[in-house]
Amino acid sequence: MKLEYEKPVITRIETGLMNKFGSSPLYARKIRKDIDGVSIEKLVEDYGSPLFVISERKLRENYKRLFNAFSSRYPNVQFGWSYKTNYLQAVCAVLHQEGALAEVVSKFEYEKARKLGMEGHQIIFNGPYKPFEALETAVSEGAVINIDHFDEIFELEKVAEKLGKQVKVGIRLNMDTGIYPQWSRFGFNVESGQAMDAVKRIAGGNKLVLNGLHCHIGTFILEPDAYAKEVKKMVEFAYEVEDKFGYSIEYIDIGGGFPSKSKLKGTYLSPDVLIPSVDEFAEKITQALYESLRPGDFPKLILEAGRAIIDEAEYLITSIVAVKRLPDGRRAYVADAGVNLLFTAFWYKFNIELVQEVSGANEPSVIYGPLCMNIDIIDEGSLLPPLEKGMQLVFSPVGAYNNTQWMQFIEYRPNIVMVMEDGSVELVREKEDLSDIERREKLPEKLKLK
Ligand SMILES: Cc1ncc(COP(=O)(O)O)c(C=O)c1O
Repeated sequence: MKLEYEKPVITRIETGLMNKFGSSPLYARKIRKDIDGVSIEKLVEDYGSPLFVISERKLRENYKRLFNAFSSRYPNVQFGWSYKTNYLQAVCAVLHQEGALAEVVSKFEYEKARKLGMEGHQIIFNGPYKPFEALETAVSEGAVINIDHFDEIFELEKVAEKLGKQVKVGIRLNMDTGIYPQWSRFGFNVESGQAMDAVKRIAGGNKLVLNGLHCHIGTFILEPDAYAKEVKKMVEFAYEVEDKFGYSIEYIDIGGGFPSKSKLKGTYLSPDVLIPSVDEFAEKITQALYESLRPGDFPKLILEAGRAIIDEAEYLITSIVAVKRLPDGRRAYVADAGVNLLFTAFWYKFNIELVQEVSGANEPSVIYGPLCMNIDIIDEGSLLPPLEKGMQLVFSPVGAYNNTQWMQFIEYRPNIVMVMEDGSVELVREKEDLSDIERREKLPEKLKLK
């Protein structure tokens, strides 16, 4: 067989563990032939490519690891599953089976949780926009509601009036915990006095009863001390409110934001070194609680961890559909999955595993997605051996935010399967076809072409 001509390239070999661009690139790429014992080749044969694959085992393991880290240190812990992080029914159902409530931030997510079988009192309703009807439903069904702004206080007072009852509410706080830029657009600011003004307003209206505090300081937080600061400020605020207004604060909801073992672009160290363990976060948080709570007080500690639970439980299998050489000499590939499916590619550098042994020198390569859009790049700079059209790559971790922030742009969205704990494979979201995209469209009669 005549070998195809390949332009020679000279690549400087960097030795040692680290250079100024971070850890040295992998020379031997990891090979992954299966996900939880199910062959990747078979998965692609049965469900096509690209293909998202969720591991039920890993998902349950991650949840238990986080829950145990907190519940072994503090007696009153409740998790709420952050729907926005991944609201596939199968994912939510696994986490609800494990004991998580539904944490939703819109009417749509609220309806999704209800349809799945969660009752109102099993839902935490956060977010900056809760329409009046959604608030009315949530109040009637007994959901936990965390207020975002003054207008929502007024809306909820109207709901309370309409339903003829006092309504228990929480408020969302924002504060300086050393994490910048500060997420100050949500909730009421503590340091400026705005949060206390909100409580005064609630007390003055006498239609709502404050019984909880909520906060979410950001996402992919690498600093356990930030949570310790958050907890201290929340507990201090709770006592001030209890002492001044006679309220009883039943829960302190500290939000989510714990990192997954993903590699944030621009970080030098590998996630294994950089990311603090779940136990470090749990230790700081519960320590801060014990230091600031009055003896005998154990308000419910609510956590809304999203990415730390789901991210590493999901993979994306993608296939190479074309091999190219760029004018600067770099090898480039076109894959059948792009930023339409991996929205988080803009921030994270994924693990890339090969599915088969490939011989040949590794080269810094670019992997483009299938979109006719210049910024559709899902990896740049990874050293890859010479891949061929038809070969598969496995990207991970991809469980957080990709199945919710993905775009229906140019391409259909593919199948998603879950590898179950018993080794079986279930289709949990069927790939789209034209009917899904056009179902809501209406073509005016006079524009019809035939
Ligand atoms: C209110 C709230 N809770 C929880 C989460 C989940 O965050 P993460 O996935 O970073 O844990 C978010 C994410 O933005 C959020 O806004």
